[in-house]
Amino acid sequence: MSVKILRRTLKNHPVGGSGVKIALAYSGGLDTTVMIRWLKDRYKAEVHTVTVDVGQEEDFEEIAEKAYKSGASTHTNVDAKERFAEEYVSRAIKANALYQGEYPLSSALSRPLIAEEVVKVALREGCDAVAHGCTGKGNDQLRFDTTFAALAPHLKIFAPVREWNMNRDDEIEYALEHNLPINPRKSRFSVDENLWGRSIEAGELEDPWVEVPEEAYKLVTPLSKTPDKAEEVVIGFENGVPVSLNGTRMDMLNLVRELNHIGGRHGYGLVDHVEDRVIGLKSREVYELPAALILIKAHRDLEKLFLGRRFQAFKQIVDTAWADLVYSGLWADPLRKALDSFIDMSQRGVDGEVKIRLFKGTMRIVGRRGVNPMYSKEAITYSRESIFDQKAGEGFSKIWALETLLSSLRERKGG
Ligand code: ARG
Repeated sequence: MSVKILRRTLKNHPVGGSGVKIALAYSGGLDTTVMIRWLKDRYKAEVHTVTVDVGQEEDFEEIAEKAYKSGASTHTNVDAKERFAEEYVSRAIKANALYQGEYPLSSALSRPLIAEEVVKVALREGCDAVAHGCTGKGNDQLRFDTTFAALAPHLKIFAPVREWNMNRDDEIEYALEHNLPINPRKSRFSVDENLWGRSIEAGELEDPWVEVPEEAYKLVTPLSKTPDKAEEVVIGFENGVPVSLNGTRMDMLNLVRELNHIGGRHGYGLVDHVEDRVIGLKSREVYELPAALILIKAHRDLEKLFLGRRFQAFKQIVDTAWADLVYSGLWADPLRKALDSFIDMSQRGVDGEVKIRLFKGTMRIVGRRGVNPMYSKEAITYSRESIFDQKAGEGFSKIWALETLLSSLRERKGG
């Protein structure tokens, strides 16, 4: 990178009155709808909106219409569902990715992909800048800003929420004043949704003591309405990646969708925990992610048939580092790719099936089998078929005890 670009990236960029072209990551929600108009007024900007479909259930035509009504010069809708499933979700599964052991990174995983699509439009339209609707308190700003910096360091970054100082009520007022197409009664919660999960924030959830009301949930059925009969599902894996459900081959996108339905139907898939954001704030986070939890748990279980204990222990360190890195917005960092090389290598030949049972909000792993696993029934069996020579255990056990024996002798002498 030239020194000039670096200087420009690191300096606050004063923008004068006239004519910047900005590509904006547009969700169709209140913040980014207000933002289109605000950027136009404040910076005399030409705004090019970009909506990326990463599996959220939205009416994308309606979103396009909203963008134009709010003043967008062009609107681009990108269908990135498959890419999200194949290139992002599958990596998260192989890495058993759970931030702080709980959060499968649903929002975190989508941001670099969305940012990349925004950059593509910015380059296509000859923009000077990119923009997003993230707050200054969260992690999402880091994920967007880092990806923007990595892919197009010459572009300025606008994050109006960090500078405009409007609360939700101010935004609604602004939207009504400017005749913007908003739906102020939509929900009191702030929701972010994609194929890998749904995160729910704000409203009364900000008090971590308050139980989440049923109406906050969409994917997971309340326990009072789940089936009285358990359901068994067999998930097939190849090279650590899920490829089938109950023997039917499926691509990643459809497999994850299907498991979201099955898990959700049985009331399974909720996470409600206190999370440590990168900037040092604690926040109560609520998620619905049936497929993510099922697939990570099933994958972690299957992996154990193949990897030795040292390999597993080391992979756990790598997995944790991977989740921390992706949570922190550093998807574009070379370390992530290096960790992925290790993880890919570890998954070669992790082929097999995991059988799970769902019932009334629970998921149990009830069976697993691998193709050519390290697990050896002939070695472990207590039956006559055993191929293990137990006489060898005597010598091993004596040597194993040696260090403890010597220490104990020493203590006795001293005491
Ligand atoms: N705490 C989660 C994360 O940092 C969820 C963020 C949800 N984002 C949102 N705009 N509601 O990944």
